Amino acid sequence: MKDIHSYWAYLVLAILIFAVVNAIIGFTQKKQFTDKDLRIGLFTLIVSHIQLLIGLGWYFMSPWYKALKENGAEVMGDKAIRLLAVEHPIMMILAIVFITIGWSKHKKKIEDAAKFKTFAIFYGIGLLLILSRIPWSNWF
Ligand code: HEM
Repeated sequence: MKDIHSYWAYLVLAILIFAVVNAIIGFTQKKQFTDKDLRIGLFTLIVSHIQLLIGLGWYFMSPWYKALKENGAEVMGDKAIRLLAVEHPIMMILAIVFITIGWSKHKKKIEDAAKFKTFAIFYGIGLLLILSRIPWSNWF
Protein backbone atom coordinates (compact mmCIF):
# COMPACT_ATOMS: atom_id res chain seq x y z
CA MET A 1 0.00 0.00 0.00
CA LYS A 2 2.82 2.35 0.93
CA ASP A 3 4.66 1.57 -2.32
CA ILE A 4 1.56 2.05 -4.47
CA HIS A 5 0.97 5.39 -2.72
CA SER A 6 4.56 6.37 -3.36
CA TYR A 7 4.47 5.51 -7.10
CA TRP A 8 0.97 6.82 -7.74
CA ALA A 9 2.18 10.19 -6.41
CA TYR A 10 4.32 10.63 -9.57
CA LEU A 11 1.21 10.31 -11.69
CA VAL A 12 -0.76 12.72 -9.47
CA LEU A 13 1.94 15.39 -9.61
CA ALA A 14 2.56 14.99 -13.36
CA ILE A 15 -1.11 15.22 -14.37
CA LEU A 16 -1.88 17.98 -11.88
CA ILE A 17 1.02 20.16 -13.07
CA PHE A 18 -0.06 19.48 -16.65
CA ALA A 19 -3.69 20.43 -15.86
CA VAL A 20 -2.68 23.69 -14.15
CA VAL A 21 -0.30 24.70 -16.96
CA ASN A 22 -2.96 23.80 -19.53
CA ALA A 23 -5.53 25.94 -17.70
CA ILE A 24 -3.17 28.92 -17.41
CA ILE A 25 -2.30 28.72 -21.13
CA GLY A 26 -5.97 28.33 -22.06
CA PHE A 27 -6.92 31.34 -19.97
CA THR A 28 -4.10 33.69 -20.96
CA GLN A 29 -4.27 32.81 -24.68
CA LYS A 30 -8.09 32.94 -24.67
CA LYS A 31 -8.37 29.44 -26.12
CA GLN A 32 -11.56 27.54 -26.73
CA PHE A 33 -12.41 25.08 -23.95
CA THR A 34 -12.60 21.76 -25.77
CA ASP A 35 -13.36 18.14 -24.90
CA LYS A 36 -9.62 17.60 -24.44
CA ASP A 37 -9.51 20.24 -21.67
CA LEU A 38 -12.52 18.67 -19.98
CA ARG A 39 -10.83 15.26 -20.04
CA ILE A 40 -7.60 16.65 -18.58
CA GLY A 41 -9.61 18.12 -15.68
CA LEU A 42 -11.59 14.92 -15.17
CA PHE A 43 -8.55 12.65 -15.38
CA THR A 44 -6.78 14.80 -12.77
CA LEU A 45 -9.81 14.58 -10.50
CA ILE A 46 -9.96 10.78 -10.79
CA VAL A 47 -6.22 10.22 -10.35
CA SER A 48 -6.12 12.44 -7.24
CA HIS A 49 -9.18 10.75 -5.71
CA ILE A 50 -7.57 7.36 -6.22
CA GLN A 51 -4.51 8.70 -4.38
CA LEU A 52 -6.78 9.87 -1.57
CA LEU A 53 -8.20 6.36 -1.19
CA ILE A 54 -4.77 4.70 -1.30
CA GLY A 55 -3.46 7.29 1.20
CA LEU A 56 -6.35 6.74 3.61
CA GLY A 57 -5.94 2.95 3.27
CA TRP A 58 -2.24 3.14 4.08
CA TYR A 59 -2.68 5.70 6.82
CA PHE A 60 -4.92 3.53 8.98
CA MET A 61 -2.53 0.59 8.79
CA SER A 62 0.62 2.70 9.12
CA PRO A 63 2.78 3.02 12.24
CA TRP A 64 2.09 6.79 12.12
CA TYR A 65 -1.59 6.47 12.89
CA LYS A 66 -0.84 3.95 15.64
CA ALA A 67 1.73 6.32 17.16
CA LEU A 68 -0.70 9.23 17.02
CA LYS A 69 -3.39 7.20 18.78
CA GLU A 70 -1.11 5.85 21.46
CA ASN A 71 1.25 8.73 21.99
CA GLY A 72 -0.24 11.90 20.51
CA ALA A 73 1.81 14.39 22.49
CA GLU A 74 5.11 12.85 21.45
CA VAL A 75 4.06 12.69 17.79
CA MET A 76 3.09 16.36 17.82
CA GLY A 77 6.43 17.25 19.35
CA ASP A 78 8.46 15.48 16.68
CA LYS A 79 8.60 17.46 13.43
CA ALA A 80 9.32 14.50 11.13
CA ILE A 81 6.64 12.20 12.56
CA ARG A 82 4.11 15.02 12.79
CA LEU A 83 4.54 15.59 9.05
CA LEU A 84 3.65 11.98 8.24
CA ALA A 85 1.00 11.43 10.91
CA VAL A 86 -0.82 14.76 10.82
CA GLU A 87 0.31 17.51 8.42
CA HIS A 88 0.65 15.50 5.20
CA PRO A 89 -2.71 13.67 5.49
CA ILE A 90 -4.68 16.80 6.47
CA MET A 91 -3.08 18.98 3.80
CA MET A 92 -3.58 16.36 1.06
CA ILE A 93 -7.26 15.97 1.96
CA LEU A 94 -7.62 19.77 1.82
CA ALA A 95 -5.86 19.85 -1.56
CA ILE A 96 -8.25 17.26 -2.96
CA VAL A 97 -11.21 19.24 -1.59
CA PHE A 98 -9.96 22.25 -3.61
CA ILE A 99 -9.55 20.10 -6.72
CA THR A 100 -13.06 18.69 -6.30
CA ILE A 101 -14.58 22.17 -5.80
CA GLY A 102 -12.71 23.36 -8.91
CA TRP A 103 -14.16 20.51 -10.94
CA SER A 104 -17.75 21.16 -9.86
CA LYS A 105 -17.44 24.95 -10.17
CA HIS A 106 -16.09 24.78 -13.74
CA LYS A 107 -19.24 22.93 -14.84
CA LYS A 108 -21.41 25.89 -13.87
CA LYS A 109 -19.34 28.35 -15.92
CA ILE A 110 -20.50 29.14 -19.42
CA GLU A 111 -17.60 31.08 -20.87
CA ASP A 112 -14.45 29.23 -21.88
CA ALA A 113 -12.16 31.72 -20.12
CA ALA A 114 -14.10 31.28 -16.87
CA LYS A 115 -13.71 27.50 -17.06
CA PHE A 116 -9.95 27.77 -17.57
CA LYS A 117 -9.71 30.35 -14.79
CA THR A 118 -11.58 28.11 -12.34
CA PHE A 119 -9.27 25.20 -13.09
CA ALA A 120 -6.18 27.41 -12.84
CA ILE A 121 -7.19 28.75 -9.42
CA PHE A 122 -8.57 25.65 -7.68
CA TYR A 123 -6.27 23.04 -9.18
CA GLY A 124 -3.41 25.52 -8.70
CA ILE A 125 -4.16 25.91 -4.98
CA GLY A 126 -4.44 22.11 -4.72
CA LEU A 127 -1.03 21.75 -6.34
CA LEU A 128 0.59 24.29 -3.99
CA LEU A 129 -0.88 22.58 -0.92
CA ILE A 130 0.38 19.20 -2.11
CA LEU A 131 3.88 20.54 -2.84
CA SER A 132 4.00 22.19 0.59
CA ARG A 133 3.50 18.98 2.57
CA ILE A 134 4.97 16.10 0.58
CA PRO A 135 7.53 14.25 2.71
CA TRP A 136 10.24 14.95 0.09
CA SER A 137 13.13 13.43 2.03
CA ASN A 138 11.27 10.10 2.47
CA TRP A 139 10.21 10.02 -1.16
CA PHE A 140 13.58 10.45 -2.87
C1 HEM B 1 -2.75 14.07 -3.67
C2 HEM B 1 -2.63 13.38 -2.60
C3 HEM B 1 -1.36 12.77 -2.08
C4 HEM B 1 -0.08 12.78 -2.59
C5 HEM B 1 0.41 13.41 -3.88
C6 HEM B 1 0.74 12.05 -1.67
C7 HEM B 1 2.09 11.82 -1.83
C8 HEM B 1 2.89 11.16 -0.93
C9 HEM B 1 4.30 10.92 -1.07
C10 HEM B 1 5.12 11.34 -2.29
C11 HEM B 1 4.73 10.27 0.02
C12 HEM B 1 6.15 9.77 0.30
C13 HEM B 1 6.20 8.33 -0.14
C14 HEM B 1 7.45 7.60 0.26
O1 HEM B 1 7.85 7.68 1.42
O2 HEM B 1 8.02 6.93 -0.62
C15 HEM B 1 3.60 10.08 0.88
C16 HEM B 1 3.63 9.46 2.10
C17 HEM B 1 2.56 9.26 2.92
N1 HEM B 1 1.25 9.59 2.63
FE1 HEM B 1 0.61 10.61 1.03
N2 HEM B 1 -0.03 11.62 -0.62
C18 HEM B 1 -1.32 12.04 -0.83
C19 HEM B 1 -2.42 11.84 -0.02
C20 HEM B 1 -2.39 11.19 1.20
C21 HEM B 1 -3.52 11.01 2.07
C22 HEM B 1 -4.93 11.55 1.78
C23 HEM B 1 -3.08 10.31 3.16
C24 HEM B 1 -3.81 9.83 4.37
C25 HEM B 1 -4.96 10.24 4.80
C26 HEM B 1 -1.68 10.06 2.96
C27 HEM B 1 -0.87 9.39 3.86
C28 HEM B 1 0.48 9.21 3.72
C29 HEM B 1 1.32 8.60 4.72
C30 HEM B 1 0.88 8.02 6.08
C31 HEM B 1 2.61 8.62 4.21
C32 HEM B 1 3.88 8.11 4.90
C33 HEM B 1 4.38 6.88 4.24
C34 HEM B 1 5.37 6.19 5.16
O3 HEM B 1 6.54 6.56 5.13
O4 HEM B 1 4.91 5.31 5.88
N3 HEM B 1 -1.28 10.61 1.77
N4 HEM B 1 2.49 10.64 0.29
